[in-house]
Amino acid sequence: MTKIVLGSDHAGFALKEIIREHLEQGKYSMADFGTFCENSIDYPDIALPLAKAVRAGEFDFGILVCGTGVGMAIAANKQRGIRAALCGDTFTARCAREHNDANVLTLGARVTGPGLALEIVEAFLRSSFQGGRHSRRLDKIAFMEQGR
Ligand code: RB5
Repeated sequence: MTKIVLGSDHAGFALKEIIREHLEQGKYSMADFGTFCENSIDYPDIALPLAKAVRAGEFDFGILVCGTGVGMAIAANKQRGIRAALCGDTFTARCAREHNDANVLTLGARVTGPGLALEIVEAFLRSSFQGGRHSRRLDKIAFMEQGR
């Protein structure tokens, strides 16, 4: 069963709840790292533990939601081994998995409506990494992560 972990800041809270309710209807194992209300919270405080848990292999994928998705993507990508992709359309979501082997999806709740957001989530989760030439490129990113 695919293991998914969700997280959001205050701006992404409502959309994160919609995504959780949607995914609970599917065959996923789910965890929710918060936030759990609309009180203001700094997005790195959610992105960091989620990215560490994905990196550690506790989950297959993370989904992070903030106002634009930008802050969550920047923060999550600071963790070695995390490939977080901000997606505002289904084509990008599919390619993020097929080409980039993205392991975290970020969404902007103030940009992307809930209907499209759920389609993006589905496109992301239903797509698989294609390997081949894309693996060579990811190897180069892994090399960069070593500070070389
Ligand atoms: C919060 O106001 C907002 O800055 C945050 O949710 C996110 O959009 C940052 O990238």
